[in-house]
Amino acid sequence: MNEADSRHLSSQLEALGYHEADSSTDADLVVLNTCVIRQQAEDKAVGKLHTLKSMKKKKPNTTIALMGCMVGIKEAPRLKQRFPFVDVFMPPSETEPLLDYLGDQGLYDHNKLRDTREKAIRNAIQDEEFVLPALQRKSAVTAHVPIVLGCSHACTFCIIPYRRGIERSRPKQEIVHEVTTLVDQGIREVMLLGQIVDRYGTDLNEDYDLADLLYDVANINGLFRIRFLTSHPNWMTDKLIDAVKDIDKVCPQLEIPVQAGNDEVLANMRRGYTNAAYRTLVDRVRSRMPDAMVHTDIIVGFPGETDEQFMDTYSLLKDLRLDKVHLAKYSERPQTIATRKMEDDVTPVEKERRRKKIDELDTIIQTEKNSRLLHKTVEVLVEGRDDRKGRWRGRTLQNKLTYFEDNRDLLGKLVDVNINRAGPYSLLGSTSISLPSML
Ligand code: 5AD
Repeated sequence: MNEADSRHLSSQLEALGYHEADSSTDADLVVLNTCVIRQQAEDKAVGKLHTLKSMKKKKPNTTIALMGCMVGIKEAPRLKQRFPFVDVFMPPSETEPLLDYLGDQGLYDHNKLRDTREKAIRNAIQDEEFVLPALQRKSAVTAHVPIVLGCSHACTFCIIPYRRGIERSRPKQEIVHEVTTLVDQGIREVMLLGQIVDRYGTDLNEDYDLADLLYDVANINGLFRIRFLTSHPNWMTDKLIDAVKDIDKVCPQLEIPVQAGNDEVLANMRRGYTNAAYRTLVDRVRSRMPDAMVHTDIIVGFPGETDEQFMDTYSLLKDLRLDKVHLAKYSERPQTIATRKMEDDVTPVEKERRRKKIDELDTIIQTEKNSRLLHKTVEVLVEGRDDRKGRWRGRTLQNKLTYFEDNRDLLGKLVDVNINRAGPYSLLGSTSISLPSML
């Protein structure tokens, strides 16, 4: 989500005549886009802010803007006191405060900019917000496109609803327009984003959902692949699963966080489903789409989680052999229900032990599953080149990171790769001996 927000902002700034500086010390304007999903992420942002503080001391004319979940929808006044050297505060996905600030400084005519943007949106013509920033032009193959902003679910551990505001689906015309504009500029794969992406459209009062949107986005010529994340188990309809199965461009990869495998912990998290319901869902996905990858998120050490309860998560993963785990140790976040009403009582040592146990199982499962791809041919969308190692990097339909050597210019192309090495986290392969006619 932050990558998408940063892309929109960079494009708008470039339309005003800014260009990317070599380093923050060379810059007239520095924007720090922040994530606070866990304490660690927030600490990292605060560390960067301290660096910017000393920079601002040396170069007082540098404009410093703070964006994203650290600012949220109402943290700005508090942050202004704590970090007085920051000039502008921008909530997630909102670029206006910075544009207004630069306008107020006389750095450009912001009324003119607003007119141009409104005209572009009205006439569905390329507008600067969706033009790729210079550094991504010619090189970016994949783009993130937010389709649902905010979240209204209020899982007890999660800070996002407090920082990104209530759930808002973007109108389908705007999404299709953004993706079309990106494809015109060379983008070949889009990742449609929402905190609960499978709730897309529920707030729009139209009979139109994520499955319908997938069909419409798939109609865009020149787009090769579509992915979407993150789904909530309760909103994964058969219609959606069938759309993923039936639309060739939609990758058979679903991100369905389970968070925990014990019913009491799930209830304390206010996730709204049980261990059994999650298992049924995964069966439903796999019976309809045997080649689908199901990725998940797991939090270990939620308040009150006993070792026995934790083992329900472990068993669930072991039984379902989910394809990948995004794993986190529970981290207390301000404002959340868990922080206000529950005690963060699992010790750091115990959290780490549980994290490691899940991580080891995840590695075993991924290694075993990836090894089945050995000597098989997979279709890879080439995303970039690792010049140091002289090889291309891309992803399979199932989102497996794949490296291979080939001297042709293959950026943005779909290439068949024979896999000859498979580790837990990536695959190594080669293309067929290239015929002279292909060079
Ligand atoms: N502590 C640990 N992990 C968290 N996540 C969200 N909030 C917290 C928290 N307080 C994890 C969840 C979510 C992912 C994006 O981050 O697993 O799915």
